[in-house]
This record gives sequence, structure tokens and C-alpha cells, in this order.
Amino acid sequence: MKKPVKVAITGAAGQIAYSLIFRVASGSMLGPDQPVILQLLDIPDAMEKLKGTVMEIEDCAFPLVAGIVSTADPMEAFDGTDYALLVGARPRGPGMERKDLLSANAAIFSVQGKALSEKASRDVRVLVVGNPANTNALIAASNAKKLDPRQFTAMVRLDHNRALSQLAAKTGAATTDIEKMIVWGNHSSTQYPDISHCTVKGKPAKSLVDQAWIEKEFIPTVQQRGAAIIKARGLSSAASAASAAVDHMRDWALGTNGKWVSMAVPSDGSYGIKPGVVYGYPCVCKNGQYEIVQGLDIDAFSRARMDATDAELREERAAIEDLLK
Ligand code: NAI
Repeated sequence: MKKPVKVAITGAAGQIAYSLIFRVASGSMLGPDQPVILQLLDIPDAMEKLKGTVMEIEDCAFPLVAGIVSTADPMEAFDGTDYALLVGARPRGPGMERKDLLSANAAIFSVQGKALSEKASRDVRVLVVGNPANTNALIAASNAKKLDPRQFTAMVRLDHNRALSQLAAKTGAATTDIEKMIVWGNHSSTQYPDISHCTVKGKPAKSLVDQAWIEKEFIPTVQQRGAAIIKARGLSSAASAASAAVDHMRDWALGTNGKWVSMAVPSDGSYGIKPGVVYGYPCVCKNGQYEIVQGLDIDAFSRARMDATDAELREERAAIEDLLK
């Protein structure tokens, strides 16, 4: 058996974590031969509820769980952390403006960025799930002075998986028949799910569907899927979000074998997206590192949508600029 690695999960008493923790503990994320020490963080008011979750983890008698820490202190939760899944966030309350939401979350993610910088493994890989995920990742990275900003990513994998499932249903293929899906930009309704480079069983996806379907059905369905789930379930997506988080971290840690996945990562000028935001890009992962897929042709339709979601991210950035110092 390998030496255990430390996996921190924040928002550990919440609904995504209620699915995520058990997937991580069962080996779905890091493999069936990788023991884990779970480091579970939530706020003081949620400690009693978290105690219940911990009792259930114990009751699963998972062979891979080598220890469980539950705490309300980020410095304790991130001590030696190898993988940090930052799920906990402040939901939008009654009367809260978008700017208030950004500021409330910025406060949380600046504290957590500082704690990761002080306490986590120097190789820590961070995935931000809590919304607004891209901008929260930017804040955490900016506050983690002792870590490389490239260690901080945000989740657009749920959008990527939703896009795969919509295209598979439309073309009668399996999701595994589809390659080169991309979700560009923000995890929000401005995201751009792009099938321009996609193949389905090796054939260009654009030869199988018409432009009207792409514009009037595919893109809006993927962009609005989160809202559709809230309407149907009365709660936001949780198991699918947890599953996407597992996919994102597993691929980053264990590699994608040349396949493209969508990850929101610090922009570096690729595809004309200037540095300064955390932007969804097509990536390949190898040896524990991700790289943005380069050299793709971008047509005018894609360009306009990629710029629109970039503009939204820059507006979010402007609202919390003072916390980036
Ligand atoms: P939830 O409300 O069930 O749980 C959130 C948990 O975070 C609560 O237990 C809360 O006490 C905790 N929390 C709040 N502040 C915290 C802090 N400072 N430190 C540690 N824990 C803290 O919410 P749920 O459904 O689990 O969703 C979590 C987040 O994930 C939300 O922001 C949601 O919008 C986001 N989300 C992101 C998706 C994505 O694709 N990026 C998809 C679905 C949800």
C-alpha cells in the first residue's frame, strides 16, 4: 500500500460534500491503492452536522481511509494537504447583491488561500468548486504568496460533462465516443460550451448537428442546466457536482492519456485571454501537471463568446480587486 495522502474538503457538512467525501474515501478520485487522510473543514455552526457525516464515514469502514480530521480552523484543515477541494462558500442570501456575494466569498477564499500558503504541501493541488468558483480561485491564489498560482484551479468540469451528455443524446452516441469538448471561461451562464473541435466516433461533431441546434438548444441548455436542476429538485446540483470534482482532480493527478478536459486555470494569454483571471480552457494532464491545449483555430462565433465570458470575469475581478493584494 502507498503512503496516505491528505485530502482537504471544505464545506464538509454541505450537500456536495455529502457525496464527494464518500467518492474520495472509496478510491474513485486517486485510485484503489491510494489511502487518504480526510481533512474536513466547515464553519463552527456546522460542527454538529459534520459530526454526523464523520460517523457515517466511520460506518462505511472504508479500507482506504487512514484518518479523519474535522475542524473549523483552516490552518488545521490544510496542514500538509496534498489535494484541496474548496467546496464551502457563502450562498446568496435574501437581498444580497452580486457584489455582496463576491465580497462575502472573497473574504472566505482570502483566508483559505493564506492558510494553504502557510500549511499545505508545497505541491498542493487546489480545486475551487464554491461559487463564484473562478473568482474565488483567483482570490485564493493571490493570497497564497508561497505557492505557484498555477496550483489553483476552478471547476468547469460539471459544465464539460453536461455538454458531453447533451451531445451524446443528440447524436445517439456514448459520452465516451466524444473527444475534444471544450468549456471556455466562467462557470456561469456566460460560459461557452464549444463543439467546434469535437469529434463523435472520429467524425466532426459539426457535421452531425446543425448550427441552429448548437445556438438555440445546446449552448443555452448547458449554460442553464444548473438552474433547471434547482427548479426540478428544489436544491442545486450536488451529486453531479461532486462527480465532476472527482473527475477534475483524478485527471489532474493521474493524467488524461492525451484526452482533452476543461479546467479553469490562471489565464496566461493563451487564445487572447490576458493574464488576470481564472478561465476555462481545454487542457491535457500528464505527470501531475496540466497544460492548455494550444494552436486551435477560433472562428468569429467562438471569439465573441469567449470574449463575453472573459468580460464577465474581469467585472467580477474589479469587484474584489482590493482583496488581490
Ligand atoms: P451547501 O450550502 O449544502 O454547503 C455548503 C457548506 O459550506 C455548508 O456546510 C457551509 O457551512 C459551508 N461553509 C460556508 N462557509 C464556509 C467556510 N468559510 N469554510 C468552510 N465551510 C464553509 O452547498 P453545496 O450545495 O454543497 O454547494 C457548495 C458550493 O458549490 C456552492 O457555492 C455552490 O454554488 C457551488 N457549486 C459549484 C458548482 C460548480 O460547477 N463549480 C456546481 C454546484 C454547486
